Amino acid sequence: MSLDYTFSIIKPDAFNAGKAGKIIGHLEAEGFKLTAARVILLTRRQAEEFYAVHRARPFYGELVEFMSSALCMPFVLQKTNAVNALRDAIGATDPAEAAEGTVRRLFAESKGRNAIHASDSDENAIRESRFFFAGSEVV
Ligand code: RTP
Ligand code: MG
Repeated sequence: MSLDYTFSIIKPDAFNAGKAGKIIGHLEAEGFKLTAARVILLTRRQAEEFYAVHRARPFYGELVEFMSSALCMPFVLQKTNAVNALRDAIGATDPAEAAEGTVRRLFAESKGRNAIHASDSDENAIRESRFFFAGSEVV
């Protein structure tokens, strides 16, 4: 049985451009239910820890810099088979390659500034939700 919730972040590019409401509305229309949310300016250290899995990648420095550059909005969404459903809904990492109607196709600027993060496995959805929310907030 797969997890019925997943974790996401409206990244600084989209939050700063006032797209958070439109993106949440788009996901609600696709059947996701918002169950936790906050608005936060990540410290560099928090961004480094959150994306530690990418530490060795060439884009890591740029990614950490971007994610700690302005406010972002971490949130939790509930839906059946949530992790896969949200990965489908956000589209490919590069908006130029993202399918029609996906969040990144509709709202992202570029591969680096791509509007939204979504957990890529049940294990990471649990880890990443706990990074930002108390257990009692993830229902
Ligand atoms: P995310 O983790 O944010 O949901 O994105 P993702 O799974 O689609 O992509 P991932 O490979 O996990 O990369 C994490 C984030 O790093 C930035 N990135 N930039 N310039 C580049 O070539 C590049 N590649 C990745 C993106 O912001 C990507 O979402
Ligand atoms: Mg990823």
